[in-house]
Amino acid sequence: MKKILTILLVLVLISSFTALFAGGQSEPKEKRIKIGISVGTLRQERWVREIEMFEAFGKANNVDILVQSAEDDPNRQVSQVENLLSQGIDVLIVQALDSEAIGVVIDPAHADGVPVIAYDRFVRNGDLDYYVTFDSVKVGEVQAEFVVSKAPKGNYIWLKGGPEDFNAHLVAQGHRNILQPYIDRGDINIVLEQWCIGWDPEEALRHTENGLTLANNNIQAVIASNDGTAGGAIQALAAQGLAGKVPIAGQDADIAAAQRIVEGTQTGTAYKPLALLNRAAIELAMALAQGKDPKTALDPALGVWTQLDNGYKMVDSFSVDVVAVDKDNIDEELIKSGFHKLEDVYKNIPRSQWPNL
Ligand code: GAL
Repeated sequence: MKKILTILLVLVLISSFTALFAGGQSEPKEKRIKIGISVGTLRQERWVREIEMFEAFGKANNVDILVQSAEDDPNRQVSQVENLLSQGIDVLIVQALDSEAIGVVIDPAHADGVPVIAYDRFVRNGDLDYYVTFDSVKVGEVQAEFVVSKAPKGNYIWLKGGPEDFNAHLVAQGHRNILQPYIDRGDINIVLEQWCIGWDPEEALRHTENGLTLANNNIQAVIASNDGTAGGAIQALAAQGLAGKVPIAGQDADIAAAQRIVEGTQTGTAYKPLALLNRAAIELAMALAQGKDPKTALDPALGVWTQLDNGYKMVDSFSVDVVAVDKDNIDEELIKSGFHKLEDVYKNIPRSQWPNL
């Protein structure tokens, strides 16, 4: 027994010496890059896809991707960012729920030496480092152009996005750029103009019902701000037998919207190539984490550098282009690009009418 114990003791000693020795010999381990991502909600299709893209990049490149979702609660988003900072992240990427409220996280991030990138949604009134985005004014113009080209005259319902999100204001600015001359000429009459808090489709549904009631169903077009709210509005139109008769467009190319486009109840969508935005944010975050010059690190094929005013300063911003998608180019832009699958988009259409791609 004693012998066995002695042998065991010797073995333990040898192994700890070996470990110590090996430890002393090995190269210092290169620190893994940690990117913190704060997403406002995973309730909308696009954010889920984008988080999956970040995670796939992390896995393939040995980068730690730490994700927190605030599930539509702006206060929670602030405390989640504090939590990410306490985990020693190198860079912070924020998809803000409330463009103003989230500004408070920037100073604590900087105090920890962590640069902040606003992702898709601007962070207002703070010393933001970078903004990676689509051109939201153009999104609004695309939406309004779709509708105006089908209904250049008549009664309109105008649904704007979530007022807490600065993008919603930019999108509405885009609508106005197109609509104003028609309104001034008296060709277009806005029966009802409303924000949809939290981009909530239910809000869009209720506002559309109200607009229809106000105009005795005499509505020629609806301006919506994204695919979710367009879906809510189309539900209200359908209840009055008007779906497909009243032009309406969204943004994001959600699968439900793509289906409605081929079915004919939604005119079009402003498609945002999410993979490009995602790629740009990753390249920027990696450049910052590795101390490289971000301006030259980003692939110019992804978008263009510009400067945007966040109320505090002009922020270096990278803008990715959007594409107007309707029935005519949906196969090309959404299916052939790999964004959606043919069988998903055409799910509700008889197979005999599916395109041959
Ligand atoms: C906006 C974004 C849109 C849309 C919307 C709803 O900020 O620009 O693409 O997704 O949020 O989440």
